Amino acid sequence: MRCLVHSLIFFWVVLSVGCKPDAMTEPGVPVEFDPAPYFLEIGHFPPPALPEDNPMTEAGVELGRMLFHEKRLSGDNTQACADCHLQSRNFSDPAVFSTGIAGEEGHRHSMVLSNLAWHLHHGESHGHGFFWDGRSPSLREQVLDPIQDALEMDESLEDVIVKLNGDTEYRDEFKRAFDAEEVTADLLARALEQFLFSMVSNQSKYDHWLLGEVELTESEERGRVLFFDEFDPFNPEMSGADCAHCHSGLDFSNHQFANNGLDADADMEDIGYMGVTGEDGDLGKFKTPSLRNVMVSAPYMHDGRFADIEEVLDHYDHGAVSSTSLDPMMQYNVDYGLGLSELDRADLIAFLHTLTDTEFLNNPAFSNPH
Ligand code: HEC
Ligand code: HEC
Repeated sequence: MRCLVHSLIFFWVVLSVGCKPDAMTEPGVPVEFDPAPYFLEIGHFPPPALPEDNPMTEAGVELGRMLFHEKRLSGDNTQACADCHLQSRNFSDPAVFSTGIAGEEGHRHSMVLSNLAWHLHHGESHGHGFFWDGRSPSLREQVLDPIQDALEMDESLEDVIVKLNGDTEYRDEFKRAFDAEEVTADLLARALEQFLFSMVSNQSKYDHWLLGEVELTESEERGRVLFFDEFDPFNPEMSGADCAHCHSGLDFSNHQFANNGLDADADMEDIGYMGVTGEDGDLGKFKTPSLRNVMVSAPYMHDGRFADIEEVLDHYDHGAVSSTSLDPMMQYNVDYGLGLSELDRADLIAFLHTLTDTEFLNNPAFSNPH
C-alpha cells in the first residue's frame, strides 16, 4: 500500500517510477521524511516498555540495520557491530574474546542480542542495565560505546559523523527516518536502538509448545521440569535444577545481576557489577544472560570460559565455588551439588534445544543489507 502511494506521488515527478525502495534516492527526486510506524511483532510476549521519545519507524529500523552492518563505524573501516555479533550465533561471537580493529582482544565475551526491548525497566535503574556489568542504563547510550572503545571499533564520534554526512545514501536515509538534514550522533544512536528493539526471538519450539501448537518429546518435557523445578538437596529424586530462579520468564532471564559461583573472591579478575555500583556486595556479579538460542551461542559466561553446554552443566552440577557475594541459591550447588544423572543432563540439553529459534537466526530482516 505504501509503495502504491509513493508511486502515485512520484508519478507526477518522474514519468515512470518503479515500485522499488531505491526509487526514493534517485537523483533529482527529493527524499521525504517517512514516518510510517514499524509494527513490532511481539507475538505472545507482553508489550515492551519502549522509550516514548524514539518511536520505531520502518525507515528508522532499516537505517539501524544498515548501521549495524556498517564497517565505516570503525576507525579503519574494517569492523561493523555485526562482526562481533553474528546473527547465526544469536548475535554473539564464537571467539572467546572478540578482536577489535587493532587486533587486540577485549576482556569480555560478546553478548547475545535478542529481545533487548524487554530488558528495559523504567523508573528503577539499580539492578538493570546493559553490558555484562550493567554500566549502560539504555541502549541509546550503549550503542555509542563500542564505536569509541579503543579495543573495539576505536573511532571518534566526530569522524563517524563526518564519514556518514559525506555519503548521500546515508544523508537520504537519515532524512527519511528522522527528517534530519544532518547526521548526528544522537540520531545514529536512535536508529541503532530501533534496530536492536526489532530483534525479537519468540518462534522457537518452546514458544509453539506454549501456544499449544506442538508437543515436547518425553526428554524435552523432563528437561523442562528439571529446569523450572526448585532444588531440594534433601529429596534428590524429586529435586529440580532450579535454573529458572534466575533464567526466568519468557526471555529466560530476570535481567538482573548475580554471582553464579564462577570464582572465589581472590580469583576474580573482573569485579563486574561492583565496578558500577561501588558496593562490595556486588563483587563478581554479572548480568544474567537470556538462554534463548543458547545452543548456538557458545562459548559461555562473561569471559567465555566454558566451551560448551556440558561444561556449563558441570559448573552448576558440582563446579560452583563460594565467595562473599555468591547468590544464596547457588550456595546449595556449592554445598551439595545438583546431583544430575546422565539422563538428567541429556534431558536438560534436549530442553535447551527447544529454545533455538531458526526463524530468528535466519531472518533476512536482520541480515547485512550492504
Ligand atoms: C569488537 C567486538 C564488538 C563490536 C565491534 C561490537 N560489540 Fe557489542 N559487545 C561486545 C562485547 C565484548 C560486549 C560485552 C562488553 C562488556 O560487557 O563490557 C558487547 C555488548 C553489547 C551489548 C549489550 C547487550 C546486553 O544484553 O546488555 C549491546 C546491545 C551491543 N554490544 C551492541 C553493539 C552494537 C550496536 C555495536 C556497533 C555499534 C557493537 N555492539 C559492536 C563486542 C562487540
Ligand atoms: C543464581 C542465579 C542463576 C542460576 C540459579 C542459574 N544461572 Fe545460569 N547464569 C547466571 C548468571 C549471572 C550468568 C552469567 C555469569 C557470568 O558470566 O559471570 C549465567 C550464565 C549462564 C549461561 C551462559 C550463557 C551465556 O550467554 O554465556 C548458561 C548456559 C546458563 N547460565 C545456564 C544455566 C542453567 C542450565 C542453570 C540451571 C542448572 C542455571 N544457569 C542456573 C545466573 C544463574
